[in-house]
Amino acid sequence: ATAPCAPRGALIVFEGIDRCGKSTQSNMLVNTLRSRRVNVEHWRFPDRSTKIGQKIDDYLHNGVQQDDTAVHLLFTANRFEKRNEMLRLLAGGTTLVLDRYSYSGVAYTAAKGVPHLDSEYCRSVEVGLPAADLVVFMAMPPEQAAARGGFGAERYEKLDFQRKVAQQYEALKDSHWLTLDATLQPELIHQQVMGAALPMVENAARGAPLGRLWD
Ligand code: TYD
Ligand code: MG
Repeated sequence: ATAPCAPRGALIVFEGIDRCGKSTQSNMLVNTLRSRRVNVEHWRFPDRSTKIGQKIDDYLHNGVQQDDTAVHLLFTANRFEKRNEMLRLLAGGTTLVLDRYSYSGVAYTAAKGVPHLDSEYCRSVEVGLPAADLVVFMAMPPEQAAARGGFGAERYEKLDFQRKVAQQYEALKDSHWLTLDATLQPELIHQQVMGAALPMVENAARGAPLGRLWD
């Protein structure tokens, strides 16, 4: 067995198609962890506040055409530009709750079906980023997500495309994934999230080593 490392924060990621309730659940998790005196920060990807993030935002608002590979690498660069800060916070004992991460990067781009932008390629450019201790996957039928308010405003928010994204997510599941029924009541989902997240926070505090993408 690997020797235990220094205590650290946990990396917890919410994933799922658009409008599945990630923001609500990640907020609830952050609030409950804070109420239990866990040091926690809440981030989202894409981080639209950086220069790269602004280019991504232009693209998502449908205004600007961009090459698919170039866009893919912008999303990836947007994570790498935050890599050092992520590692610093985790090492300092802060738990990070992320609304989307590299798993979105792979699922959304691979769903486009561009021949050289397959899931293997997409994973390869994420190599070097920390892996999530826990991926909370919020499973919801694309039809149901589409029926929610706000769907359709951004580039990827089309039913056909969301179906393909859901298929790509299926292929990414590994032992770190917890798949939850996102159609349940928010409070019920939250209890399940807490049941999985707290042990991860405890493991990390005990020095469980941080994983790396892409294993
Ligand atoms: P999203 O989290 O849905 O933002 P908002 O809550 O403001 O709608 O992210 C915007 C879109 O970006 C979403 O459709 C998923 C997509 N995306 C990628 O294509 N690649 C990525 O690497 C990430 C993080 C997101
Ligand atoms: Mg969205």
